[in-house]
Amino acid sequence: MKSKICIESFRTYREMSAAAAAAIAGVLRDKPDCVLGLATGSSPIGTYDELARMHADEGLSFSKCTSVNLDEYLGLPGTHPQSYRRFMEERLFSRVDIRREATFVPLGTAADPEAECRAYDERIAALGGIDVQLLGVGPDGHVGFNEPDDAFTAGTHVVRLEASTIDANARFFASRDEVPRQALTMGMRGIMTARKIVLVASGAAKKAVLAAALGGPVTPRLPASILQLHPDVSILWSEE
Ligand code: GLP
Repeated sequence: MKSKICIESFRTYREMSAAAAAAIAGVLRDKPDCVLGLATGSSPIGTYDELARMHADEGLSFSKCTSVNLDEYLGLPGTHPQSYRRFMEERLFSRVDIRREATFVPLGTAADPEAECRAYDERIAALGGIDVQLLGVGPDGHVGFNEPDDAFTAGTHVVRLEASTIDANARFFASRDEVPRQALTMGMRGIMTARKIVLVASGAAKKAVLAAALGGPVTPRLPASILQLHPDVSILWSEE
């Protein structure tokens, strides 16, 4: 498969977010019943703000689409302020006309997390895969919560978070101790079979991570490097 990575640089976060939202809106307009792969973290917040604005001002509708999120902290209920289900509810779902029953986020409180992972992959397969996947990238090059490892993992799985990821995400919690140590994450098959990928990242540190991931070998030690093998990736980066 031939890689086709398009890298666009923007000065402001707002401009980058508008470009990401435009790409997602384009897919939604072409295929109203599309499957949106969604991400959390600070990077996509502006994208969701812009999509909410497009819904309010331009009538962009989410009423026929389905969404699948990348990941969730293990042990956090969807009502927890730092759960990714709650993040999505606040940042996007409550602001647009998406059907709640068509929004999927791995269940952090599943009694059997392994079974939840299997069911999540079956769900993605039953939906026919993801039309457009929004991604951020972690300081260690993780995508979703696919942390550096000896091998890429294809399916949705339970992962132990790296210390650097816990450090990076501690800012959202009252203290570092409260950051869950494990998460459920979509694996590389779900991400790499998405028909289109849009990655958003800002600042010098993320630029360095992306340069290493896209300019060096494909290695599970730098998970984002796998994107080199995807046929349609847009990397949107902003200075600030
Ligand atoms: C978390 C999420 C990732 C996200 C990363 C970067 O670890 N699981 O999906 O890409 O944070 O977050 P930020 O955009 O806040 O730097």
